[in-house]
This record gives sequence, structure tokens and C-alpha cells, in this order.
Amino acid sequence: MAVKEVAKVPVWVKLTPATANIVVEAEASFRGGADAIASSNTFPSLPLIDPNTLDFEMNVEGYTSSGGLGGPAILPLSLAKMAQMTKAFPEKAFSGIGGISNFDHALSYFLLGCGTAQVCTAAMLDSAIGPNVIKTLINGMTEFMEKHGYASLEDFRGIRRDRVVSHSQIKRPEQLEYHGGYDEDVEGYAKPAEPLATV
Ligand SMILES: Cc1cc2nc3c(=O)[nH]c(=O)nc-3n(C[C@H](O)[C@H](O)[C@H](O)COP(=O)(O)O)c2cc1C
Repeated sequence: MAVKEVAKVPVWVKLTPATANIVVEAEASFRGGADAIASSNTFPSLPLIDPNTLDFEMNVEGYTSSGGLGGPAILPLSLAKMAQMTKAFPEKAFSGIGGISNFDHALSYFLLGCGTAQVCTAAMLDSAIGPNVIKTLINGMTEFMEKHGYASLEDFRGIRRDRVVSHSQIKRPEQLEYHGGYDEDVEGYAKPAEPLATV
């Protein structure tokens, strides 16, 4: 990486999640001398179509184009990408971004091995352009560390990284006990049965 030959500050590479195997890009970045990787950038997306007007929710004269999606919807998607990388390179430095607006969200990144976290959409939506989000993050982190008796981020960074395994390593319940992961009778989008009207 040419930039490393002249850079006087640490170089962090920010990766797009729009790739089949992000570990390949991470590997190339580290090989080029990257000091850390930040992920994720936005995910490719298209606005929904309004069922009444049949217009895209964002359009110019009826036309739209694919754009990057950030915010709450991408948190689990971005965590999956991050876990792939922190598991592949547990000794390397990572910064988590994607869907963070409070400390619980940032915590997932920390538990997967990230040493820092970043915020974009939540800061843009914050009326004070960021400070409230930062306060929420700091207060959440302070509360969490007091509750668990942690003295620094290093006490809990990466402690759930090894819990992310391949499907085949997850113990399957006996068929009779299997309720799709839910205890309720109704799951997912299934509607509860209406009780029969009595006359
Ligand atoms: C309007 C907008 C503009 C952005 N511009 C940039 C940019 O110039 N450079 C960059 O690295 N990421 C940019 N991003 C990506 C964000 O930094 C961030 O990686 C992404 O939105 C996911 O984080 P979030 O869920 O906190 O928004 C932009 C995101 C948005 C929504």
C-alpha cells in the first residue's frame, strides 16, 4: 500500500460490505500494511415503493438509483461481516461501524473483538449533530462496566468472538423439542388463530 510509505499517522482501511468474502479484502489490507480495519460502509439498497402512489420513496421525477443504507437495519449484517474478520485475524485491530446508536449496539462489536466503535446515521439524526449520541454511548459504557466490574475495554474485548461458529457446530435440538427457536405456539409472521365466534 503506497500510502503506508509516506503516512506519518496510523492507516485504517474502511471496507465496503458489498463483497462475497470480506476476509479476502481484509487480508489484502493487512498485507499492504493497514494498521486497522473499519467496517462496515453502507450496504447497497433500493428505496421501497409506495403502494398507493407506486413511486419510490425517494425519487427524482419518478426515477431512483441504488444507494447506500446505514442505520439500525444494517447492525446484524455488519456484525456478521465483522465477525468473519475478527475471527480470521484475532490479533489485528478493528473498528466497528454500522447501526450503532447506543452502547448496547457498540458492545456487540467490542465483544466480537473491535477496539473502537463509530457512528454515522445516529449522529446525523441527532438534533445536536452528535453530542447526544456520544453522551449516550459513554453513559452506557460506564454503567455496563460498573455492573460487570470491568476496569477497561480490554477486560471484555473479543470475549464472544469464539462463540461465532459454523452451522454444523451448533447443537441441534431433538425434533420433538424443536419449535423454530421460539417457545410460543406462533412464530415469525404467522398470525395467531382467531378464536371461533360463538353465537
Ligand atoms: C449520507 C451518508 C454519507 C456517507 N458518506 C461517507 C463518506 O464520505 N465516507 C465514508 O467512509 N463513509 C461514508 N458513509 C458511511 C458511514 O460512514 C457508515 O460507514 C455507514 O453509514 C454505516 O454506519 P451507520 O449505520 O452508523 O450509518 C456515509 C453514510 C451516509 C448515510
